[in-house]
Amino acid sequence: MTLCARATAYSSSANLGPGYDVLALAHTAFQDRVEACIARAGGERRVEIVSVEGPEAERSGGAATAGRAVEELLGLAGVHARVELRVWKGIPPGRGLGSSGATAAAAVAAVSRLIGVEDASLLLEAAGRGEAVAAGQPHYDNVAASLQGGLVAVAPLSGRPVAARIPLRGDLHVALLVPEPYRVEGKTRLMRSVLPGSVPLQVAARNYGRSLLLVAAACSGSLRLLGEALMGDEIVEPARAPLIPCLEPVRRAALEAGAYGATISGAGPSIIAVAGSRLEAERAGRAMLEAYSGCGSARSIVAVPAPGALESVEVYG
Ligand code: HSE
Repeated sequence: MTLCARATAYSSSANLGPGYDVLALAHTAFQDRVEACIARAGGERRVEIVSVEGPEAERSGGAATAGRAVEELLGLAGVHARVELRVWKGIPPGRGLGSSGATAAAAVAAVSRLIGVEDASLLLEAAGRGEAVAAGQPHYDNVAASLQGGLVAVAPLSGRPVAARIPLRGDLHVALLVPEPYRVEGKTRLMRSVLPGSVPLQVAARNYGRSLLLVAAACSGSLRLLGEALMGDEIVEPARAPLIPCLEPVRRAALEAGAYGATISGAGPSIIAVAGSRLEAERAGRAMLEAYSGCGSARSIVAVPAPGALESVEVYG
């Protein structure tokens, strides 16, 4: 009998200003789905992507991150099986919305249940290595958010990536300005290549202080503090800002419309603003779109924190 599982993984915004590679928020803006079936247990380890469908199928490069992530998962868990994957791509790639990470996360979540692996760090490692197909090097923020849901922090501990979900209080809503069309190929690699190789200790200290304030603000529901901390990055945002069309006018428009803060979503070019209600986020989204009108075409989307792929898995067979 063939055993199958399906999982849904949501889009995410990594970094959130000062939290480069260590903070990310999964949100309901877009989703990917993966169905995985164990075609044969034992024998040769093989992962096959049977189909890629959905509105973003064509631009997503065959969903290679899902295949690699599952190969990594089988390898790390020492499992031999033939796995078939069917991918539904709804998250636009190349926009800084964690598209490739979400595909990897959904695939890992579905297969993990089929092979009975629950080690959260191992799942994260597999999904991160899968995502590296797109980004050039593993970074675990997007995959951690898509796997676990909500706001997450991630960092290596004893050489392994470890993620924890940060409790969120308050009625956090986000408005996303998503430019399009946009160059997809190699975008994350390019945006990582412009970053400084080292920074003075005092700059690093101020930045991780702001990341911690952001976390404290999320836990206490102080969206005003969260928004302020989000805009304080001194390391990554200044290096990338020249490559993000209209970041400053869009941010200004969001703030004038009542948002608490706005910054680059992941490696961009999308811009994320935080607000305290759906109404406020819609207002910020409209203002961001208007400010962007001279810069190209874009859409704005309002979203709330999303559940993780690991919570979504359904097994059937
Ligand atoms: N933290 C990563 C970066 C996210 O900013 O490069 C990329 O999706």
